[in-house]
Amino acid sequence: MRILLLVHAFNSLSQRVFVELEELGHEVSVEFDISDAVLREAVALFHPDLILAPFLKRAICEDIWKQVTCLIVHPGIKGDRGPSALDWAILNDEKKWGVTILQAESEMDAGPVWSSLEFKVRPGATKSSLYRNEVTQTAIKAIHQAIERFESNVFQPSRPNINAPDSRGIERPPARQSDRKVNWDVDDTKTVLRKINSADGTPGLKDEIFGRTVFLYDAHLAHGFSGKPGEVIAKSGPAICRATTDGAIWIGHLRDGDEPNTFKLPATRVLNEKIKNLREVSIDSINGYSEIRSYEKDDVGYLHFDFYNGAMSTQQCDRLLIAYREMLKRPTKVIVLMGGTDFWSNGMHLNVIKASPSAADESWRNINAIDDLAEEIIKTTSHLTVSALQGNAGAGGVFLARAADYVWLREGIILSPHYKDMGNLFGSEFWTYLLPRYTGQDNAKAISQARLPMSSKQAVEFGLGDERFGDSHKAFCAQVVERAKKLSTSQDFDQLLHDKIARRKIDENRKPLGDYRATELEKMKSNFYGFDPSYHIARYNFVHKIPKSRTPVTISRHRDLRRIEKQRRAS
Ligand code: COA
Repeated sequence: MRILLLVHAFNSLSQRVFVELEELGHEVSVEFDISDAVLREAVALFHPDLILAPFLKRAICEDIWKQVTCLIVHPGIKGDRGPSALDWAILNDEKKWGVTILQAESEMDAGPVWSSLEFKVRPGATKSSLYRNEVTQTAIKAIHQAIERFESNVFQPSRPNINAPDSRGIERPPARQSDRKVNWDVDDTKTVLRKINSADGTPGLKDEIFGRTVFLYDAHLAHGFSGKPGEVIAKSGPAICRATTDGAIWIGHLRDGDEPNTFKLPATRVLNEKIKNLREVSIDSINGYSEIRSYEKDDVGYLHFDFYNGAMSTQQCDRLLIAYREMLKRPTKVIVLMGGTDFWSNGMHLNVIKASPSAADESWRNINAIDDLAEEIIKTTSHLTVSALQGNAGAGGVFLARAADYVWLREGIILSPHYKDMGNLFGSEFWTYLLPRYTGQDNAKAISQARLPMSSKQAVEFGLGDERFGDSHKAFCAQVVERAKKLSTSQDFDQLLHDKIARRKIDENRKPLGDYRATELEKMKSNFYGFDPSYHIARYNFVHKIPKSRTPVTISRHRDLRRIEKQRRAS
């Protein structure tokens, strides 16, 4: 079928739908929801059999949904309506929630249902984490079911009976700040976390600290602290600790609500002078805000680095390098780089770069810090190394993962192995060595130019990953432990280590790693300091979430003239 994806933005769910439908053999093209006229043009150019909207914020115009069947993915149970479905699910402490695929009609979220599936709400999950995991997983299943039903030509979608005694779905208004305002004198820790989690990602929970309006994100339970409810009682790395009525929480990120054009930053950075004299809890201590965690089991060392949104600042890279070097000293045999649960890594921390006095200097420091880490991993001779991707990875994060000897991917994750969308950024992290080394010259060229998301299946086919398994975090992590143990106890271990060292020597003699780094960084220097401001403009737009004014031709196939001409000639 020809399926047009209509999206507000090409977010993680839309990317996953795009790659999966293509893998099923459908012809897929994407159009951003910029205006009704642009959509009409897309329909005229592409002639879709079906329009699918995995992430849409406004209604589709009537002439289009009357002309082509339009299916909307709503992150709510059958009968649920409104723009804040997940916010309410978390605020109301729903134990089960769902995803519904409904047909577009004049009233938002009110059309006949093509598929509706439910999932268990993970206790303590943030809205964005729930979206990236349970919602995405369930949406993919529901979309497959809806498309099968649509293709069958016999299925009749029906309207939910919201008056049925077991119906839980209702129309809900947008969740406002007043619906989730924290009452620090009354709310217990669980309630405070639930309110902040309901707003994580966007819009953040509006609050006040030291008389300033701030939006709170990235909240976690803090162990062993207490104080006057609402008071900021400690700091640790990027996070501040706030007391609640029955304990305390860490808040990792804030957005300043008093200044215009602000964006999310590490909390200690936003409060800066105000918390100068506050008690500092070491980030490495058991009670601190630990983004980096390591432990050993059997002969395997595991390194978790759960950086918010997968963004890695200079400081975070430096700390991770120290932790990695510590692991190299241990008498283990295998080191597994676990990344975070939602993201493995998305490369340099573009928000921290934006907030720095010189964005060019901070970009330079940040890329060098990631390169130091990548180099240490590539040069490791004492251990076999594994990158285990529980979550998505983008740009430099993908190549940092490929620096390890083995890359294991959770089924269903999406990789974005390219930099060019960030204002033609050249990229570093030794990608000019790693990509051809693992995927071959031709594929390396195709991957870096295509600027497309990649499924775990494609990544393994191309050699960007070695294996994919586990359809849930639990299943994936359990298999990672099993496989890492097997690797460390393998009779071939010494041979495998010997082979890797020998291969590295050959590669080094052919072209030293330092040369790859120098060439990449030379190009990055021009991106950061050169005449062409594209990187800084793209970075600004990304950090400030400026909506795109047109769909990139890489995904908007119906607007790709070269592709259309090629297809015309072929037919
Ligand atoms: N620095 C700072 N924040 C980042 C980030 C980065 N490198 N990468 C992602 N984020 C943030 C986003 O701003 C967003 O923030 P939010 O919580 O306010 O919504 C969140 O992480 C999720 O990102 P989003 O873009 O919504 O996720 P996605 O799954 O739709 O897209 C990527 C994934 C990787 C394609 C996209 O995030 C991206 O292009 N990131 C930048 C990669 C990059 O160029 N890095 C620098 C070069 S190494």
